[in-house]
Amino acid sequence: MGEALKGLKRTIMCGLLREEHEGKTVTVMGWVQRKRNLGGLVFVDLRDRTGILQVVFGDEINKEAFEKSDNLKPEYCIAVTGEIVKRESPNKDIPTGLVELKGESIKIFSESETPPIYIKEGLDAQENIRLKYRYLDLRRPDMQKIFKIRHKAAKIVRDFLDENEFLEMETPMLTKSTPEGARDYLVPSRNYKGKFYALPQSPQIFKQLLMVSGYDRYFQITKCFRDEDLRANRQPEFTQIDMELSFIEQDDVMELNEKLLKKVFKEVKGIDIELPIERMPYEIAMNKYGSDKPDLRFGMEITDLSEEVKNAEFKVFKNAIDEGGSVRAIKASECATMGRKKIDKLQDFVKTYKAKGLAWIAYREEEIKSPIAKFLSEEEMKNILDKCNAKKGDLILIVADPKNNVVLESLGALRLHLAKQLELINKDDHKFVWITEFPLLSYNEEEERYQAEHHPFTAPMDEDIKYLDEDPSKVRAKAYDIVLNGEELGGGSIRIHESKLQEKMFEVLGFTQEKAWERFGFLLQAFKFGPPPHGGLAYGFDRMVMFLAGTDNIKDVITFPKNQNAFCPMTEAPNIVDEYQLEELGMEIKK
Ligand code: AMO
Ligand code: AMP
Repeated sequence: MGEALKGLKRTIMCGLLREEHEGKTVTVMGWVQRKRNLGGLVFVDLRDRTGILQVVFGDEINKEAFEKSDNLKPEYCIAVTGEIVKRESPNKDIPTGLVELKGESIKIFSESETPPIYIKEGLDAQENIRLKYRYLDLRRPDMQKIFKIRHKAAKIVRDFLDENEFLEMETPMLTKSTPEGARDYLVPSRNYKGKFYALPQSPQIFKQLLMVSGYDRYFQITKCFRDEDLRANRQPEFTQIDMELSFIEQDDVMELNEKLLKKVFKEVKGIDIELPIERMPYEIAMNKYGSDKPDLRFGMEITDLSEEVKNAEFKVFKNAIDEGGSVRAIKASECATMGRKKIDKLQDFVKTYKAKGLAWIAYREEEIKSPIAKFLSEEEMKNILDKCNAKKGDLILIVADPKNNVVLESLGALRLHLAKQLELINKDDHKFVWITEFPLLSYNEEEERYQAEHHPFTAPMDEDIKYLDEDPSKVRAKAYDIVLNGEELGGGSIRIHESKLQEKMFEVLGFTQEKAWERFGFLLQAFKFGPPPHGGLAYGFDRMVMFLAGTDNIKDVITFPKNQNAFCPMTEAPNIVDEYQLEELGMEIKK
């Protein structure tokens, strides 16, 4: 049976005790990290979220406390009162290492079974066990460090936005499908059988409505829900720092957010972000890095060789170009002696990105070795090497395809793959970049229609509106993503606020008036009442915390995350419900 507090008050936390507290009597409360019985003395490491303090019990200090202390086991929750004294053998590894607490009395609040995971820094237990016993996992000092960082980042964001005249406002969780493009999580309605709420994929429409309502600057740190394939940086429910502003343009949103990022990264991580952050149009990002979220911590840019090889004998190259595609390459410096097996592995790698092959040129000291040398004239070979700025020792890797996006995406992926393999990335680097001028629309070949790249309220760039009729694929959007080290940290856009333009957009997207009204009628209705020019941005807050905490697993920064299959091993959600609950909802499970 555990003891109760009965008026006992904690006077200080374990990790805060220093030499200056010598001679003071304190009461600390926490968990037993470990206990050692060295004959006449019992040493206990007591832990709370601030750190660890050594407590010593002895016959001469207090007999009753000494005897009780010998029953302690790891993770017992206890209180100890006594005097802080100088330690005979200081421990330089912990901040409290110069002092210890003489245990004059002890209360055992509760006992603990042997925990299934060891509560210590840097543990490597199986993930499902960690998630099943998440409350124990969260006791670990490295997890507690992360959640302090998360708290601090959220507070800095709140304070910054407050200082910049933003109001923090909430938006509904039980709502109608939002247009972010993932699958919705649905909640069946009891009152309206056969009807469903959707959990929001983002507060997008509501924040735009708040602009119509005149709130001018809104923000919210809120949960979003998306039923999509999970990855290392995706969870089914995640948190956005979401904001929307009125009477602003793209530059205003970007400038404000640069200041926000600078403050957060400086105050949490001590990193100085140089402003302004580089801006790169989408087209350049794709052509140079094969990605709309380029990792700029290393070079290895993509080179277009189409001009150099357009007349080459090699059919694969010629056909790719003739059919509207291209031939492009990346250069791996000092890799000319890479073995055949390794190159074959790279070829297998690009094939997972739909490339049909990987040609290569090894510019070796003694010779040029390449399976396509026989198809290239001496001049063509020279032009390729020149265009790639190749030196002796370099390896050129080439992809040709009638589809440009296959060439770019496979080389973009290969670039990242090689950089990791060759250890070209400095993990301490923080390379921010804004990607701008995204295409407004993309063509969905299956459905034979254009679809919005961002969402249907994103405004086209003024100078491109004229292409909406003749060639919608040419239209660029007033959209921007903030990218850090090759990860999309956030994104946003300026929205359409003129109903004529919005109608035009729906027309291009192949929405009939009725269909547009069926889905977004309430927004279109609201836009009849003087909508201001507006735009905004949302960060993936979990992703931001991942960078701040230096982890590459999103689960590390979420208190109770789901596993890779969107399952919670602790609560065992999702789970079946009682028959009567289904009955009330008018639902039946199909067998
Ligand atoms: P978007 O869909 O780009 O924009 O989302 C914004 C940011 O949210 C993060 N994110 C995720 N993080 C974790 N798990 C996920 N499943 C996940 N999905 C997205 C990303 C992303 O950059 N309403 C718009 C914003 C706007 O236009 O103002 C929106 O939601 O970091
Ligand atoms: P082959 O003559 O088919 O043996 O091809 C010669 C070289 O061209 C091999 O190294 C192939 O990997 C490469 N190759 C084949 N298709 C492509 C392609 N679409 N892009 C780049 N290289 C290719």
